[in-house]
Amino acid sequence: MTGDDVAEGRADYRDAGLVFPPDFTFGSATASYQIEGAAAEGGRGPSIWDTFSKTPGKVWNGDTGDVACDHYHRWESDLDLMKALGLEAYRFSIAWPRIMPTGTGEVNQAGLDFYARLIDGLLARGIRPVATLYHWDLPQALEDAGGWPARATVDAFARYAEVVGAAFGDRVDTWTTLNEPWCSAYLGYGQGGHAPGRHEPAAALAAVHHLNLAHGRALQALRATSTGSPDYSVTLNFHVLRGVGDGADEAMRRIDALANRAFTGPMLRGEYPADLLQDTAAVTDWAFVQDGDLGDIHQPIDVLGVNYYSTATVRLWDGVSPKQMNDGHKGAAGGTAWPGSDQAVEFVEQPGPYTAMGWNIAPEGLEELLVSLSGQFPDQALMVTENGAAFDDEVAPDGSVPDPERRDYLRRHFTAAHRAMARGVDLRGYFVWSLMDNFEWGYGYAKRFGIVRVDFDTLERTVKDSGRWYRELVRTRAIPE
Ligand code: NOJ
Repeated sequence: MTGDDVAEGRADYRDAGLVFPPDFTFGSATASYQIEGAAAEGGRGPSIWDTFSKTPGKVWNGDTGDVACDHYHRWESDLDLMKALGLEAYRFSIAWPRIMPTGTGEVNQAGLDFYARLIDGLLARGIRPVATLYHWDLPQALEDAGGWPARATVDAFARYAEVVGAAFGDRVDTWTTLNEPWCSAYLGYGQGGHAPGRHEPAAALAAVHHLNLAHGRALQALRATSTGSPDYSVTLNFHVLRGVGDGADEAMRRIDALANRAFTGPMLRGEYPADLLQDTAAVTDWAFVQDGDLGDIHQPIDVLGVNYYSTATVRLWDGVSPKQMNDGHKGAAGGTAWPGSDQAVEFVEQPGPYTAMGWNIAPEGLEELLVSLSGQFPDQALMVTENGAAFDDEVAPDGSVPDPERRDYLRRHFTAAHRAMARGVDLRGYFVWSLMDNFEWGYGYAKRFGIVRVDFDTLERTVKDSGRWYRELVRTRAIPE
């Protein structure tokens, strides 16, 4: 298809109502630790999530990813399932500790073989592989040596990127360096709700920088080793902010700097925002940013991955009156933006309705986010790399899984994305989170995001009604009721 055809296709869909253009990619997403299981098989080394999930009190019900969806053994039937759903692309992550069990040194051939089978199996079924290098499973040995706050982790990541680039860079459709570095840095090292569970604000900011640098260095390594013509990307979880109370604008500005611009600044503009450095001056002097780092981070990407679930409401907090804590996913550093300033920022409860995560349902936030990003970065193509919802699904007596709330959530969010496109946003595709129910981090198996149900006793898969709805969307390219 030529560029002109594509442009024409895009013009057509504008006139035809809620129809997506022919070059728009419909996919679904998962991540290694959340689905693979086989934690001690195939030469895989332990990751920070193995350690964290086995630490009492860290994950709901003591759940771990030891077995998860057993995708490591069931990958072939899972690929058949993807094919049956009509997926055009599949976003998965490569487990660093499968490729390099201690994060550095020897490469584990069995790990490479697993992803070679997966990628070849996708291609054989006409499904494009979209591979993320880091979806949070840092080799434990690297955490023991300091983790993301330590600069050596960046060198290790660049070496790992070289290895996977050389192994799969002839066949992967899109490389994504990092998934949601905000979570890795702030939840992992600041707020502590994610592995490795540290509570060190200065370390969280060092992690922000080293993740940014790891992104840039990995892009360079992937470009040097990939022999095909993959697209290059990174996936960020943007905070779409609302403010309340006196100083609402100031509260939003601070969280926008910490959560959004701390990543887009260096990655897409080659600089850290001045207000971020100022806001965090009491915590760190940012001496970990060395000469040449910003140039390394600021590499071109073909597509910016956007994960969106809900909005966040913030207000300035005087540090004295009672404060509401966030649920661990939405708030940076335990719900307050850097102790040390007189006024912190708190995340406040949002108006409903909510998903089973307690996250508010706000499809207009997705449209607003896509339009805002394309205004800030006019030449940057976008891709929704995650959107979806957890609900408490019940299996019906006939064995089907009716999940009207998830279907409705998806329908409204696809509609919002479509609206953004009609407003001129260059949106290339959409990946539903998730292909199947899986290990939802601190919530273990209690929260189900899949369009396919997994029975965690029998590991049986059942396509939910939302999965059938999605198959229809992919087939017709028009949003079904
Ligand atoms: C973002 C993460 O990338 C994914 O791993 C997680 O399961 C979903 N959001 C839902 O929380």
